[in-house]
Amino acid sequence: MNAELTVIGLGPGDPELITLKGLRALQAADIIFAPQNRDGDSSIALRIADLWIDHDRQRIVTLPLPMTRDSGQLRPAWQAAAAVMTAGLRERPRGVYLLLGDPLLYGTFVYLWRELRTLAPDLPVKIIPGVTSFAAAAAAGGLPLALADERLIVLPASYETDAAALQRLLAEFATVVLMKAGSVLPSIVTALEQAGLLDHALYAERVGLEGEFITRDLRALDPQHRPYLSLVIVRRGEML
Ligand SMILES: C[S@@+](CC[C@H](N)C(=O)[O-])C[C@H]1O[C@@H](n2cnc3c(N)ncnc32)[C@H](O)[C@@H]1O
Repeated sequence: MNAELTVIGLGPGDPELITLKGLRALQAADIIFAPQNRDGDSSIALRIADLWIDHDRQRIVTLPLPMTRDSGQLRPAWQAAAAVMTAGLRERPRGVYLLLGDPLLYGTFVYLWRELRTLAPDLPVKIIPGVTSFAAAAAAGGLPLALADERLIVLPASYETDAAALQRLLAEFATVVLMKAGSVLPSIVTALEQAGLLDHALYAERVGLEGEFITRDLRALDPQHRPYLSLVIVRRGEML
């Protein structure tokens, strides 16, 4: 196939956190692909990149990708999205796929990549890394992630939310980053309280986006109904 695809990590929300390389690739594209939001709303990735898109010249294609763990539903959706992408790239050969943060950290593209490799094995794919949400949250909250010989772990919150699990992790790692925290925040806060770690955490939601909220005061935080774009960083090491 005489086309190329560049995957661009946009960073967590602030359009100025797109890398220069990402911006150049975005502006050089003839066709822009982006995953649709979880709630079916217009793509957050497209909103972040909007400032840099030429709507008259560049074609935009949003891909509806179901947010489910059911592989029976997921696989056909990835296959359909890959088919839409290859068809689009036949007409407009310089394509980019946009996504939040870094593409290879819990990003949707990896699933799509598998299908693209089957459908268009000769399509060159280039990945441009992005600022991760937890790096931006730590920067905004002024919290060191790791110093000297300290160890850092990043994991999805839904798997490690009880106090014993958190304590085990914090015995081994100076810093624990809990991604996908929104729906399980009540149990994270309870676990932190039981482990005596409530004053050792930072909560960040919608970093760099409208409604950004970052706090170290988890005692005052209402943990109910927090958004999907949220994370917690727990730090046994020095907080500053
Ligand atoms: C599917 S993962 C994508 C991670 C992304 N690729 C990255 O590099 O950060 C989605 C999770 O990333 C985190 N996240 C992404 N963007 C965020 C933001 N702007 N503010 C807070 N958390 C964010 C949240 O924990 C969310 O549940």
